[in-house]
Amino acid sequence: MKQQLETIFKNANEDLAKASSINDIEEIRGKYLSRKGEFNEIKKNLKNLSDEDKRIVGSLANEITQKLEASLKAKYDEFYQKELNEKLQKERIDITLPGKYVPTGKVHPLTSTTNEIVSIFQSLGFSVAPDRNSPEVETEYFNFDMLNVPKDHPARDVQDTFYTTLAPNVVLRSQTSGAQIHVMEEQKPPIRIIAPGRVYRNENINARKNNFFHQIEGLYVDKDITFGDLKGVLNEFIRIYFGASRPTRFRNSFFPFTEPSAEVDVQCIMCEGKGCRTCSGTGWLEILGCGMVDPNVLRGVGIDPEIYTGFAFGMGVERLAMLKYAIDDIRLFFNNDERFLHQF
Ligand code: DAH
Repeated sequence: MKQQLETIFKNANEDLAKASSINDIEEIRGKYLSRKGEFNEIKKNLKNLSDEDKRIVGSLANEITQKLEASLKAKYDEFYQKELNEKLQKERIDITLPGKYVPTGKVHPLTSTTNEIVSIFQSLGFSVAPDRNSPEVETEYFNFDMLNVPKDHPARDVQDTFYTTLAPNVVLRSQTSGAQIHVMEEQKPPIRIIAPGRVYRNENINARKNNFFHQIEGLYVDKDITFGDLKGVLNEFIRIYFGASRPTRFRNSFFPFTEPSAEVDVQCIMCEGKGCRTCSGTGWLEILGCGMVDPNVLRGVGIDPEIYTGFAFGMGVERLAMLKYAIDDIRLFFNNDERFLHQF
């Protein structure tokens, strides 16, 4: 039996010498040292020996298996380190490499400006008119007739308004004011809406003018609405949009659909009122038109001007964005130059 033990030990060491991986080690451990391993098979036969031999062979078996355990462990550790190093080497990450650039989209500055203006008016109790009340392709009826614009008004001239070939009276809207008519034909007062959208005019394009741009229309009709309400709402809007510090003024004006009418100026942000090229030396910049809804307009949509009054306003989104961000050329909004767009 001693002979047998020595032989198994020798075989085990030979196997171990050939081992080249942790897997091999585990196999060897299984073959020799597990419950069904070769050493255990021998140990099972110990009971047939005399007490004296049992002691000698038993302690030899223990000694040999302990030795084998020790060399298995040493080899195991060695392979473990080796495999770990290989793995680390293979999976090495160079953290000094620059990351992959994933370009992200940005909200267009006109969209974010519109969103901001809309949310300010929402906070003042206005809601956005449904899209069907604010179409870009309009009839003269909504764009002019019902807004009290006379048939011979120069704004109707093809030089200003784009007429379509769909029908003689179908135009690309030149103002969002037609939304007022759509809304009032559908709803009864109290009415408190805004309508943002694109408008078209046959302009010569330059730094201040484009042949399409964006407006936000507003309309408030109820009992006892006064010019004081108009001033209160618009001053509050300007205070929130530009910050408390920007001086504003209401200036007398004329629009066919409001009486009285006004335009609102804010102090020029380029020169702070001193006068510069942007404000043509006046120190002020116009941001919107407004007024009390003309009784003719109310009557036209079946609202009794003896009972109800209202105010309306229309502001240019490009204008408001240019003033807030000191943008000096309207064409920048439409060139799709990423160097510009990514600043917002
Ligand atoms: N629609 C006018 C324009 O495009 C602006 C305007 C002025 C709108 C007075 C209004 C208003 O609602 O009451 O120039």
